[in-house]
Amino acid sequence: MKGRSFLSTANLSLAELGELLFLSQDYCGVNNNHKLLPRTLLRGKMIALVFLEASTRTKVSFERAARNLGADIIDLQTGASSINKGESVMETAKTLQAMAIDALIVRHASSGMPSFLADNLYIPVINAGDGWHEHPTQALLDLLTIFQEFGSFAGLNVLFLGDIRHSRVARSNLFAMKTLGISVRMSGPATLVPPEMKALGAEIVTDIDQAVAEADVVYLLRIQWERQQSGFVSSLSEYSKLYGMDEERLALMQSHAILLHPGPANVGVELSAAAYAWPRSRIEAQVNNGVAARMAVLHWLLADD
Ligand code: CP
Repeated sequence: MKGRSFLSTANLSLAELGELLFLSQDYCGVNNNHKLLPRTLLRGKMIALVFLEASTRTKVSFERAARNLGADIIDLQTGASSINKGESVMETAKTLQAMAIDALIVRHASSGMPSFLADNLYIPVINAGDGWHEHPTQALLDLLTIFQEFGSFAGLNVLFLGDIRHSRVARSNLFAMKTLGISVRMSGPATLVPPEMKALGAEIVTDIDQAVAEADVVYLLRIQWERQQSGFVSSLSEYSKLYGMDEERLALMQSHAILLHPGPANVGVELSAAAYAWPRSRIEAQVNNGVAARMAVLHWLLADD
């Protein structure tokens, strides 16, 4: 896969997903034991972080992943870059490419921006989240977390609950989960669960309590206020009451089921503090797996072997 961009999970085959997940699992042990870090694999490579939208987990974990593999990182501080003087993102990307940067990791509020850059550059572009569209490395770390829990994807039933409409996480997971044979259900306020999700392979359900009781994985999504026009939900307190994960809903979950959330979480809105800290919540494991999954993607795209 060397030289290819990593933009979406929709075009990843079953074999490619398997390869990435096994590599991620290997890197999980390595990331958690610093003595084993293969700091020479990407030595001499220079990777630029181009984050034009806020991030904690994705940005820090990519930086950590690149350093774990021996690559150098340039963090384009966009507020202090020439984007601030009106230079386009494309010109900025071409400028970095002209300085022999080996890859760009791009987050942008506009859906399609990483693909647009990839179409016009000869270096790989990694999509670190674009608008409502996709977040493919998030899906990879989520699948790794699920695999670590269940040891297989066979027969699993995953429920996404919340703001599906604005969720790039839900889209990237749905594409990959369908390839892996996982059953995907989606639920939330009707205004935030677009019917197109059915055509993409999800089952849209309205009885949330029943869906929670039948799920192996309940994946909570944040209300994305920054991407809302208006009027999708009447109030946060109503949303929390009707669609949030609280103690009553936790009690419906099967004893083997787990809770996921991509973060950042709005505790008190889509989940209660008790749900966040619930023993079968795997939110911290997701964050830890983010480094390993991103090491796997950087290895896959940039290693010379
Ligand atoms: N899950 C996720 O993308 O988090 P950040 O916005 O903090 O990167």
